[in-house]
Amino acid sequence: MSANALAPTPLPPLIEDERSVTPAVLAAMANTDNARLQEITTALVRHLHAFILEVRPTEDEYEFGLRWIAALGHHTNETNNEVVLAADVLGLSTLVDLLNNDGGRGETMSALLGPFYRGNAPDCAHGESIARSTTPGPGLWFEGRVLDVDGAPIEGATLDVWQASPVGLYDNQDAAQDDYNLRGKFATDAAGRFAFRSVKPAGYPVPTGGPVGKLLHAQMRRPYRPAHVHFIVSAPGHKTLITQIFSDTDAALATDVVFGAKKAIVGDFREHQEADPDRYPDLEPPFFTCSYDFRLVKGAPTFPVPPIA
Ligand SMILES: [Fe+2]
Repeated sequence: MSANALAPTPLPPLIEDERSVTPAVLAAMANTDNARLQEITTALVRHLHAFILEVRPTEDEYEFGLRWIAALGHHTNETNNEVVLAADVLGLSTLVDLLNNDGGRGETMSALLGPFYRGNAPDCAHGESIARSTTPGPGLWFEGRVLDVDGAPIEGATLDVWQASPVGLYDNQDAAQDDYNLRGKFATDAAGRFAFRSVKPAGYPVPTGGPVGKLLHAQMRRPYRPAHVHFIVSAPGHKTLITQIFSDTDAALATDVVFGAKKAIVGDFREHQEADPDRYPDLEPPFFTCSYDFRLVKGAPTFPVPPIA
């Protein structure tokens, strides 16, 4: 038991009406023995109580809301995290991401890791294709550089790349794709350059079979994410960048169901109607190219735990 817990605390006044509940709850938590936890739980109670006082739910509405939250847990398992999905479609995850990674030091803006990162992607040579299966769809050449925030190239940076297929499925969702299809790891050369071949990704829906899907339906929202390629860019002495580079129409970008598409990380995907075997080997027209330079800020590299195997 801490010294704080032993300190005498004046008794709060008894609850008289709806306005006296909040101070009573805040007084009950006043001896929290961790300043940050105290700050967070105090703000949580203040905002939740303000929400209830504004919305004035009926008892049926309140119980419906509690059942909806419980259903998030019931629909969470090894392959689906409904709690994270709820946070994503309410914009919470993107808000937290922006608070912690706003790109304000000149680094590339980050985006969510997402649920489909597997880790252990095969090492690939410069320009190699990550389409390991016969994956129908237009080809893609993606190239760029990894730079520091002053524009100096970073040699030996690693790019861990993964994406959905042209029908909007990741390898682990689609029996027609080989294991680790559309996943690969690339290293930059002395000029910080990298390049790989792939197929153009397509947008895809988030899972809609649980309580989040019901909410999206009631809100008449499309459950789709715009097409994108995922990257984890890392280098010794630099903060690891987790991001997504988007390719899609403005309408699809603006209606990203998880609000992950930000202006700074939309790539310029150009369609080519003529073959160009010297510059873009093994790509039949029509194909797409995208050039994007990543910028890393100094810091300690960290690596996320893959949410799936
Ligand atoms: Fe994705």
